[in-house]
Amino acid sequence: MRNVGQMSRFGPAMARGVLIWMAGVAFFSVLGFGGDKNTQSSASIKRGDLLFHQLCVSCHNKQPGDDYPFGPPNLYDVLRRKEITSSQASEVIRHGRAQMPPFGSRITDGQISDLIGYLEAH
Ligand code: HEC
Repeated sequence: MRNVGQMSRFGPAMARGVLIWMAGVAFFSVLGFGGDKNTQSSASIKRGDLLFHQLCVSCHNKQPGDDYPFGPPNLYDVLRRKEITSSQASEVIRHGRAQMPPFGSRITDGQISDLIGYLEAH
């Protein structure tokens, strides 16, 4: 009998637990929905990351806090620091500038936007 009494006392608490759990599942599936878009753009950022390491790191550093004044600019956070805009950056990548060679005939527009996505993210 004592056990049954305990059961009925824990009953409502468990029901609340289940409700909270269901609310949590609903909440995270909503997040998951929004996350779909993020997965796409993070795939693009990943591609940009790979491209950057294939084509750009030979000249460009991308480490925070490296302010070596000579050579190609450090591109760490370059678009977030607002030194140049994303569209200016894609122009530079497409057509080159000063010592920087043009990439417009070597990579696609999609790859350029992957690179921009990567530069915007880091
Ligand atoms: C051969 C060396 C070299 C390579 C490879 C190179 N860059 Fe550059 N990049 C430079 C130099 C040098 C500059 C500075 C140009 C100037 O003085 O106007 C520059 C400038 C830039 C700028 C403008 C930065 C600013 O602050 O204005 C961006 C963005 C950029 N590069 C992106 C890239 C990306 C993305 C790649 C790879 C696809 C790449 N670069 C590959 C040498 C290079």
